[in-house]
Amino acid sequence: MTEETGYAIEVENLTKRYGELLAVDDISFTVSTGELFALLGPNGAGKTTTVEIIDTIRMPTSGKVTLLGRDVTKKKHDIVRRIGVLPQGFNSFDRITVRETLEYYSRLFSCRNCDIDGLIELVNLKDKSKEQYRSLSGGLKQRLGIAIALVNDPEVVFLDEPTTGLDPRARREVWEVLLGLKKKGKTVFLTTHYMEEAELLADRVAIISKGKIIAMGSPAGLIKNNTKYLVLTLQSVDENVVEIIRSMGFKPVIDNHRDIKTRVEHTDDVQKILSALKESGALYRGLEVGIPNLEEVFLKLTGEALHDGQVTSRGIK
Ligand SMILES: Nc1ncnc2c1ncn2[C@@H]1O[C@H](COP(=O)(O)OP(=O)(O)OP(=O)(O)O)[C@@H](O)[C@H]1O
Ligand SMILES: [Mg+2]
Repeated sequence: MTEETGYAIEVENLTKRYGELLAVDDISFTVSTGELFALLGPNGAGKTTTVEIIDTIRMPTSGKVTLLGRDVTKKKHDIVRRIGVLPQGFNSFDRITVRETLEYYSRLFSCRNCDIDGLIELVNLKDKSKEQYRSLSGGLKQRLGIAIALVNDPEVVFLDEPTTGLDPRARREVWEVLLGLKKKGKTVFLTTHYMEEAELLADRVAIISKGKIIAMGSPAGLIKNNTKYLVLTLQSVDENVVEIIRSMGFKPVIDNHRDIKTRVEHTDDVQKILSALKESGALYRGLEVGIPNLEEVFLKLTGEALHDGQVTSRGIK
């Protein structure tokens, strides 16, 4: 931590080019000590590039990045001892058990008294400590990956898409582990393309699109500042529902193939839409009226929907 600023991470005008491609385009932000900060964006937005510059793996093209008070392009050895990293698409030794894996990584950090039992407990792998890596499910593998990232008791932990590809239950179990880290006071830098993950876990979120940070703040603040409407969701709709709603001057967006979401100003609008659907005999299985979520914020700012890492613009006219 920088004693003067209280920031664990300071990023100033960071840019990264790969030849002609501008992968990260002049971004700036800070992460406070003890904060869980999420970089949220679709595939190719520049998340991994950003995180791997901050955690000293890649070099920036320009800009200044300070981690724990040190310039990340210099004296990397000193920094690396104090951080933990779960890379995107993490993998480990197939035939080595959970415990052996953690013992091995602790030796890499010359850690004689590492609390391996404590780590195994923290990621909830006690029952699996004698299992080989290859026999673990995706969620358990990710939890072992998080334990590896914690083996040196780091001050800052970088987790690059820790829940991508996991089923909802495994994802929730990883979330529990991340909330545990937050309770322990670790600074956590998370990347994700799951908006509900960022919304649930993060103290602050930076939304990144095409290398640029397009919004930043607490999840609640981002929603409040960027959306002044309600969202009507109609589930399992008839084909003609979209057209009826569109003909009333609203802009319905197709979600999950058969649901539609429509922004409305007031609950009166909901009544109007439902009446029109009733009159025309259009069918839907359920409905929900709610405040917008972070996905809505992304949609509003970019005109694109963020679905499980896929950017689509289906139905947006
Ligand atoms: N080493 C590299 N060399 C050339 N281009 C790269 C390299 N790494 C990333 N890119 C490109 O830079 C852009 C940003 O990639 P990056 O991996 O940082 O995005 P991301 O947000 O992590 O995406 P994902 O969600 O798919 O992991 C992409 O267009 C990618 O193809
Ligand atoms: Mg990535």
